[in-house]
Amino acid sequence: MGLKIFIDKYRNQLKAMSPDYDVAFDLSKDEPLEFIDKENVRVSFASIADTHLIDKDSATVNLNNFFEDIKNTDCKIDAVLMAGDLSEYGKIKEYKRFFDVFDKFKNDFKLFVTMGNHDVRFLYGRNQKIIMDKAEEYLDIKTNGKSYYSYDINGYTFIVIGTEKRVLEKAHITREQMDFLDKELARGTKDGKPVFVMCHQAFAETHGLPEVWKTGDMGEQSDDVRAVMEKHKNVYFINGHLHGGVFEKTLEVLNEQKGVYSLSVPGYRKKNNFGFTDCGVGYYCEVYDNKVVFTARKFVEGKRVDVEYGKFEFDLK
Ligand SMILES: [Fe+2]
Ligand SMILES: [Fe+2]
Repeated sequence: MGLKIFIDKYRNQLKAMSPDYDVAFDLSKDEPLEFIDKENVRVSFASIADTHLIDKDSATVNLNNFFEDIKNTDCKIDAVLMAGDLSEYGKIKEYKRFFDVFDKFKNDFKLFVTMGNHDVRFLYGRNQKIIMDKAEEYLDIKTNGKSYYSYDINGYTFIVIGTEKRVLEKAHITREQMDFLDKELARGTKDGKPVFVMCHQAFAETHGLPEVWKTGDMGEQSDDVRAVMEKHKNVYFINGHLHGGVFEKTLEVLNEQKGVYSLSVPGYRKKNNFGFTDCGVGYYCEVYDNKVVFTARKFVEGKRVDVEYGKFEFDLK
């Protein structure tokens, strides 16, 4: 397992560096996204990560395909969770491409964004403000200069956490932010409802870390933040950064008894490293009164992904 992960990772990372990789995909309208039981869905969202936008038209086309695809269905998607690394180099032009695309869909979906290491590794202050200003604008909330916020849709709580300073590749989560997370989790889960939390980085030793991505975890506060999540029931943690693909480590059970799970969303722009490695893949989520279902989809082409680990279904606790 260890050696296979090592070989797969470096082989696919080399492929992802190929200059002809940034092609614009054609979006099919023939296989619209489907819910298991669309009449009874209480809230729904689609999640992608690591769009790593560069200043090229192909990047705009492929991101646009994602939003077109989740709109091209009679199963209503309420929100989009974008788990960080919006841009490749943290350039203003890259953010402009991202938000110019979303502006066309801002009346269709609520957008949740957090910062990835590519966003803030060089210019933390400027890019934190670009991203959080957009979170404020689209959700009509105030973040007061912080890197975290929450927002309810149809009575379900979504919490976004993120780094509060530049710590190379990691997330620095302050005690104040952990207290906010704890309070919002308590509020959102009190009637037995699931709550969704998003951060760019996953917890230490989850999803095959550290083998799958050497610098991949949240960092110093990882265990403390995880302990906060495990205090509560029915918590779903959405993260990116690992570029893992759809494979046996995509889903991590953090606490089975309490129903606390972590989903590592594949990287959107580049080929991923393990299992089903296609780019343009994420998961969409249907929330029912008694269960939560995640389904992988190749949004960039509007196609189903019928592979192992492409569907996860959880009964609420
Ligand atoms: Fe990334
Ligand atoms: Fe990242």
